[in-house]
Amino acid sequence: MTRHLLADDDLTPQEQRRVLDLALAMKADRYARRPLEGPQTVAIIFDKPTLRTQLSFAAGVSELGGYPMVVDGDLAQIGVRESVADVARVVGRQVSAIVWRTYGQDRLEEMARHAAVPVVNALTDDYHPCQLLADLMTIREHRGDLAGRSLAYLGDGANNMAQSYLLACATAGMHVRLASPASHRPRADILTRAERIAAETGGSVGVTDDPLAAVDGVDAVATDTWVSMGQEGEKTSRQAEDSPFTPFALTPELLVRAARDALVLHCLPAYRGFEISAEVIDGPQSVVWDEAENRLHAQKAVLAFLLSGGSMP
Ligand code: NVA
Repeated sequence: MTRHLLADDDLTPQEQRRVLDLALAMKADRYARRPLEGPQTVAIIFDKPTLRTQLSFAAGVSELGGYPMVVDGDLAQIGVRESVADVARVVGRQVSAIVWRTYGQDRLEEMARHAAVPVVNALTDDYHPCQLLADLMTIREHRGDLAGRSLAYLGDGANNMAQSYLLACATAGMHVRLASPASHRPRADILTRAERIAAETGGSVGVTDDPLAAVDGVDAVATDTWVSMGQEGEKTSRQAEDSPFTPFALTPELLVRAARDALVLHCLPAYRGFEISAEVIDGPQSVVWDEAENRLHAQKAVLAFLLSGGSMP
């Protein structure tokens, strides 16, 4: 069966742990494994802007011995010039895997239904599972075992990062607390999925509109931009002083309420003075540069995992 990574809970808890183990091993011996030698081609398609994702997938595929073919979504016009299903049938015959950053999750799911090769979510409006693998890898590097650890996410609770934190942290057996304005909560069905997973793994999931309660004593605090790609038209209101997000800014005053050495995570790009203070992202508790590097290792591991059909290479 062709395996895909469309959302964070496409990996079982055991699989997530094995992918993270492999990512850490790949980081420790960066050029040792070349499962795509041949080279096999991986199509990496962008319908939205990118820096880290293009770099880390391109470098990662070439380090695995494969050929990264970056496709400009504006040229391909998937779903405009031809249907997603037809594109999937064509691309799936040319390459070994498809990595796609796009808008609707339904587009990615349609691609996976019709492509004969693994499809990887490189960010949709709903999820960003590759980033979450990098985040979990970073927490493991700094703190060891993930199970039982706690993480607070602050800000836009309805965006891709928020929803991925719920699913991925629950899968890892972590306690995840999300603090957002009541107007920007995660989707109810995603919350239910995360709660079900947490019930199996021993983790827990909480949603609140009280940022102080969310960060109280946690091992890690994460945030993300208040203006996701595609929401540029709302930039002024989302970043205004009286925006509903303002009380959720990750400031030094809020960070002191977390555990003394709590890790600070941000997927980047970051907007200092809005969702995070400069003192926090540039301060001693920040691990954002490790997090950015770990995109490479985590994505190499997930590609190797999917291309082996879910058995480990
Ligand atoms: N929520 C952000 C994540 C960027 C990596 C966005 O979708 O733009």
